[in-house]
Amino acid sequence: MGEDLTAERIIATTGATGALGGRVAARLARLGLPQRLVVRDLNRAPELPKSSAVMAAYEDLPALGRAVRGADVLFLVAAADARDRGELHRRVVETAVSEGVRHIVYLSFLNAAADAACALGRDHHAVEALIRATGVAHTFLRPSLYLDLLPGWIGEDGTIRGPAGEGRVAWVSRDDVADVAAAVLRAPRAHVNRVYDVTGPEAVSLGRTATRLSTLTGRTIVYVPQTTEEAVGFLRSRGASEQEVETRVGACAAIAAGELDAVSTTVARLTGHPARSIEGYLRKNPSALSHAPLFGGSGKAVAAP
Ligand SMILES: NC(=O)c1ccc[n+]([C@@H]2O[C@H](COP(=O)([O-])OP(=O)(O)OC[C@H]3O[C@@H](n4cnc5c(N)ncnc54)[C@H](OP(=O)(O)O)[C@@H]3O)[C@@H](O)[C@H]2O)c1
Repeated sequence: MGEDLTAERIIATTGATGALGGRVAARLARLGLPQRLVVRDLNRAPELPKSSAVMAAYEDLPALGRAVRGADVLFLVAAADARDRGELHRRVVETAVSEGVRHIVYLSFLNAAADAACALGRDHHAVEALIRATGVAHTFLRPSLYLDLLPGWIGEDGTIRGPAGEGRVAWVSRDDVADVAAAVLRAPRAHVNRVYDVTGPEAVSLGRTATRLSTLTGRTIVYVPQTTEEAVGFLRSRGASEQEVETRVGACAAIAAGELDAVSTTVARLTGHPARSIEGYLRKNPSALSHAPLFGGSGKAVAAP
């Protein structure tokens, strides 16, 4: 699917100072594609070949308009912590389309739906609907929960706590999501009006995730199911922000509702390599769980193959 690679279209890449957008920008640069990095802070913009950085927060529509003007394709990362997300993203989408963007590749969320169990799924559905309503060509990437964030779910006591019940999730690595995004952005015409679920290779419950992590690392990791009220109280007592509480509890609600119990073949189909597993992630990041207690005080923190 590399037929569009030589076309000198400009890609406007948002979120380029972030974990996902930064990975996408680096991949597009390696492919030799010209891009405009849309950032809130020029000092943090990555320096990449064939790229220029433009400062534009989504709230600053004139700046955003200038930033996307002349770009054919927009890679759009949502502003997760914005106050009025619906209205903000409506303006962003409308600005992009009115400035001539012809294709929006939007980073959405698995099972985005109007009746999703978590606000994340409902918010992303709303943005997808806005983009569809403009009639602009689009591609929606719907990743599962990021595998890279899994270590942050584990406390120093080795517990994974949350109201996720026995629901399952196919954790996906940001690298794989970025590889998929780059595959789409390098040849967008092959992906017009397509929706891709982007997941890891296997859906597992949080209990199974904990057991797997224990076996692989020699650390004691256990899942402690909570009610929603217990989870909210627990996270607040640990100093989590309301945004963090909403995101974590919402993700657990989506797991519990079975909304993330999906395994797709998108990574392999679009990138040619298999999706990274929990084992593969730990092989690459062997100290990711070093904050969790060693099993019996004597286990080895080494990821098994
Ligand atoms: N599937 C999952 O498990 C999962 C988990 C977490 C997040 N997500 C979603 O995935 C997306 C990317 O995640 P990530 O890990 O790359 O997040 P990240 O590292 O926080 O990056 C977010 C990027 O968006 C930019 N941004 C935020 N608000 C903006 C605004 N109002 N105007 C312009 N730019 C703005 C940030 O700019 P600054 O650098 O200036 O802040 C940053 O570059 C987010 O939309 C998030 O909601 C998914």
